Amino acid sequence: MVNRVEQLERLRKEAMLGGGEKRIADQHRKGKLTARERLNLLLDEGSFEELDMFARHRSNKFGLEKNRPLGDGVVTGTGTINGKTVCVFSQDFTVFGGSLSEVHAEKICKVMDLAMKIGAPVIGLNDSGGARIQEGVVSLGGYADIFLRNTMASGVIPQISVILGPCAGGAVYSPAITDFVFMVKNSSYMFVTGPNVVKTVTHEEVTFEELGGAETHSSKSGVSHFAAENEIECLQMVRRLVDFIPSSNRSALPKIPTSDTKDRLCTRLDSIIPANPNQPYDIKDVITEVVDEGDFFEVHADYATNIVVGFATLDGMPVGIVANQPASMAGVLDINSSIKGARFVRFCDAFNIPLVVFEDVPGFLPGTDQEWRGIIRSGAKLLYAFCEATVPKVTVITRKAYGGAYDVMNSKHIRGDFNVAWVTAEIAVMGAKGAVEILFRKDIDSAEESTKRAAELEADYNEQFANPYEAAERGYIDDVILPNETRRRLIRALRLLETKKDTNPWKKHGNIPL
Ligand code: HXC
Repeated sequence: MVNRVEQLERLRKEAMLGGGEKRIADQHRKGKLTARERLNLLLDEGSFEELDMFARHRSNKFGLEKNRPLGDGVVTGTGTINGKTVCVFSQDFTVFGGSLSEVHAEKICKVMDLAMKIGAPVIGLNDSGGARIQEGVVSLGGYADIFLRNTMASGVIPQISVILGPCAGGAVYSPAITDFVFMVKNSSYMFVTGPNVVKTVTHEEVTFEELGGAETHSSKSGVSHFAAENEIECLQMVRRLVDFIPSSNRSALPKIPTSDTKDRLCTRLDSIIPANPNQPYDIKDVITEVVDEGDFFEVHADYATNIVVGFATLDGMPVGIVANQPASMAGVLDINSSIKGARFVRFCDAFNIPLVVFEDVPGFLPGTDQEWRGIIRSGAKLLYAFCEATVPKVTVITRKAYGGAYDVMNSKHIRGDFNVAWVTAEIAVMGAKGAVEILFRKDIDSAEESTKRAAELEADYNEQFANPYEAAERGYIDDVILPNETRRRLIRALRLLETKKDTNPWKKHGNIPL
């Protein structure tokens, strides 16, 4: 028995060392933490329960049979984040560069299957040289096994990918299917082909960081939702995200205690809308004024900044916020902002998180660039996402609700449950200048003082349309409110809607315009 105990202790100690002390030192020298150090930071202290610590690869090619490290390059298991159970895998770069073998993939699949059974989020910490070259097609099969599970789990359990080193080739497609991607500046990268292949094929000279670093993916491509300064900050951000979201599509929403009061008036909002309708303001000031304790966890903060999305709570209830941003491109909807908004709406709907929309939108962005790249198809994604969502959906029109964008931004017509407009709202087919030019061009051209005549006509148009009352008269909005009432009214509406039930017709699945 003593021998058995010693054997277990020895094996455990060996497993803890992964690829050995030298490689751990190499990892630290690169400014990176080890797979286990990362899990220690991610999970509540002492909560990690490891699975498959003793798994070893079965390969006997290229002399691999002589090197069979315990765990085979990935640490898997369960733990908690602020008490919420999560399933995790953390690739160990010190073992064959974290490369994915048959056994490594089996371990990931096993913990993903467990997550599906128990209804817990899966968090993958990625740091890998990709498919284990010595195992050939077997490792490609392992990736495909993971991709299938990512797809089956989509909308059932939240899936979070954290990129903490290389993630290249087909390996990028697992994170791409998951709900949220986190990256770290200057130490993680994702690309389908690296700088050398790029140079050969397109003759472009590009660095790793430029091609697929955190800043590139969080601002240019939108592949990454978050870019952290370092690994510690990154893992703290993951913990914060997990706090807002439910464990699965069957779980109740988390309740987050707050010291903020339900009836707090947001008096600062009464003067936030500039007198000039073309002057911007920051919609994030509106959001932070309304939500509990001003705490807004923004998603995709550096991508398509003309729309703002993220999580917050109202009276302790988690909500997903989607808001046009007048301070960026006047809050216009374009291809990227539509895609960003649509994906966020679909995440919230899949996981029963109510949607709160702040609307100030002058319309869709005109131009050949947008038209030729398919603003029609992309704008339709956001429209489709709002239409199909059955969660509680509330909208506050702060200023402009123009044209097709009025319909798209969770209007009453597409099952908005509680739609209100501030007294400052302008709900119309288009702004006064454009409308007057179309309707009265001849009148203006023939007038003695054409500028004066145009101004008169614009004033008349504004009087008739640039207000919320035409929409209120028809019930297209449920009420016109003072900005300071916003928090109180939203909380009441969301409490009322807690028992909301709505469904879509039976179908195998819809066909969202992709
Ligand atoms: C086996 C690998 C490996 C791999 C790295 N290693 N990648 N072993 N299979 N894919 C090993 C190295 O041999 C080395 O072992 C150790 O891991 C550390 O690697 P280094 O090269 O010393 O580290 P570094 O200089 O930091 O470079 C990291 C790297 C580089 C950029 C990731 O290792 C690299 O280019 N690897 C190959 C990447 C690749 O082409 N993978 C296949 C992609 S295609 P020793 O014993 O010397 O320490 C793919 C398809 C997926 O993944 C398809 C899904 C459908």
